[in-house]
Amino acid sequence: MIICKTREEIAKAIADVRKEHKTLGFIPTMGALHKGHISLVSKSINENDCTAVSIFVNPTQFNNKNDLLTYPRTVDADLALLEQTGADIAFVPTVEAMYPEGLENITESYDFGAIGAVMEGAARPGHFNGVGIVVHRLFELVPADRAYFGMKDFQQIAIIREMVRQRNIDIEIIPCPIVREEDGLALSSRNTRLNDEQRKQAVQISQTLFKAVDLVQSSSVAEVKEFVENTVNSVPLLEVEYFEIVNGFTMQSISSWDEAEWVVGCITVNVGDVRLIDNIAFKNI
Ligand code: PAF
Repeated sequence: MIICKTREEIAKAIADVRKEHKTLGFIPTMGALHKGHISLVSKSINENDCTAVSIFVNPTQFNNKNDLLTYPRTVDADLALLEQTGADIAFVPTVEAMYPEGLENITESYDFGAIGAVMEGAARPGHFNGVGIVVHRLFELVPADRAYFGMKDFQQIAIIREMVRQRNIDIEIIPCPIVREEDGLALSSRNTRLNDEQRKQAVQISQTLFKAVDLVQSSSVAEVKEFVENTVNSVPLLEVEYFEIVNGFTMQSISSWDEAEWVVGCITVNVGDVRLIDNIAFKNI
């Protein structure tokens, strides 16, 4: 596996791939890799001649300083795992390599309209702008044929598709299923920050979403929403930040099940100072 740290190193690695007319799959990550990330890497390895993975904790997408400071960083272990999985290129840029003009001098910005104004967009001002900026820059540095993203960050995939549309980038965005622990907790780099008791109680997030799916036939959207909010909030260490039942294409809340063909319940829960997100499809396309 080639490890690239600078713009020059990644440009050379990509030029070598292109010289040989190989197809390239790309997985942008913020590191602290787990089985969810590895499932994306494995899928890319199956579908492309060459697979590149970036590890970059992107400061522009953190609206909360403490979240950025405490975000888990395990680069050596990540690189070992990527090597073992069979990735070909790891791109591990510094903040200076990604933002040579300095964080204070970034000029590009995005308007994602309605899809970016709700849920994570409303709860974390500037977050999606930061995601758009960094993913666009990463796609310029690693111009892949396909890019792989986990569906745990459901709204993020819609944002990235919209950024790709706005910037006219020729890349296929491939959403990949959420990978869960055996008890159902969605894998997340942030799970490592939970203490034993928080981890035990966090399982109620996914378990409640699974139970909610069974209620769809017999209950209204408002009743399912209330069930999820009340059930999760009744667990002592969990506090629902939002739970929205949305049209999977537009991210807008719906009020009856027949309002959309694709219906997804998106939840964010604070467990102490750890913010966990998850989602479940109530109606699939
Ligand atoms: O999902 C993530 O890990 C990040 O938001 C991403 C897409 C790597 C951009 O920093």
